[in-house]
Amino acid sequence: MKVRKAVIPAAGLGTRFLPATKALAKEMFPIIDKPTIQYIVEEARKSGIEDILVVTGKGKRPIEDHFDSVPELEQNLTAKGKTGLLKLVQQTTDINLYFIRQSHPRGLGDAVLMAKDFVGNEPFVVMLGDDIMEDKVPLTKQLIDRYEETHASTLAVMKVPHDEVDKYGIIDPVTETKPGLFDVNQFVEKPDVDKAPSDLAIIGRYLLTPEIFDMLETQKPGAGNEIQLTDAIDRLNQIQRVFAHEFKGERFDVGYKFGYLKTSIQFGLKHPEVSAELKDYIKELAKKLN
Ligand code: UTP
Repeated sequence: MKVRKAVIPAAGLGTRFLPATKALAKEMFPIIDKPTIQYIVEEARKSGIEDILVVTGKGKRPIEDHFDSVPELEQNLTAKGKTGLLKLVQQTTDINLYFIRQSHPRGLGDAVLMAKDFVGNEPFVVMLGDDIMEDKVPLTKQLIDRYEETHASTLAVMKVPHDEVDKYGIIDPVTETKPGLFDVNQFVEKPDVDKAPSDLAIIGRYLLTPEIFDMLETQKPGAGNEIQLTDAIDRLNQIQRVFAHEFKGERFDVGYKFGYLKTSIQFGLKHPEVSAELKDYIKELAKKLN
């Protein structure tokens, strides 16, 4: 079956970014001139996804507004002949986006469960709202290609420094069935550094079969007293195969302060309007710091 649907959970509290996230969702923080979530929606579209459900929570209305049309602004830009800007503004409305609210942020697993009716009986993709991925082939498309070979759930994983494994869901890989595709024995959420079965961490893209909802409906709270998607995936792996696909591209985690800063600098260095100035500025700054 074709993979047509994506779910973007964006209902978390964003506590690592307080006080900025008191009233504004971190998924709306701009990387130069585009909110983070727009990069994710663009990845979905480039991967052939047709329908997207965004799971939102309190204070997340700006996400809906961002993807809505703004007639006054559009008329104003048309009248002034600013066609380039008009195109940029209209780009975000040409997408099948749906919204649902998660009334209590009980964890990522609970956020994904909110998508049960939207997904129905189809395979689908979960794309975390605070993780931007870059590669020649979009990561979501890489997962869809794997699904077309295996017809099984497949998670994106990436090697992380060993002392950081306790921040992630980690896989216990059994064999590398094909280059970069692992058969998995176990999925462990936030293991202790000395107990982690590998350094391969689950990152923010998951291709899942609809059976995941049976697991989520009965999933007990795990690490942090939250309903963990990783725990439900580990149970799914006991009834059907779940693979891990190693991502070799670049991942930008904008969900914490330093990650957000690094992403802004790297994207700034590539942005035609600001890259030259930013390069000079960084050089000047480096001289002062030496
Ligand atoms: P994170 O753990 O990175 O987000 O969840 P958080 O809980 O908002 O952040 P901190 O740890 O408090 O700073 C990954 C993604 O899952 C969503 C978040 O919005 C984020 O995009 N999420 C998390 C939900 O939608 N609902 C939840 O209950 C938890």
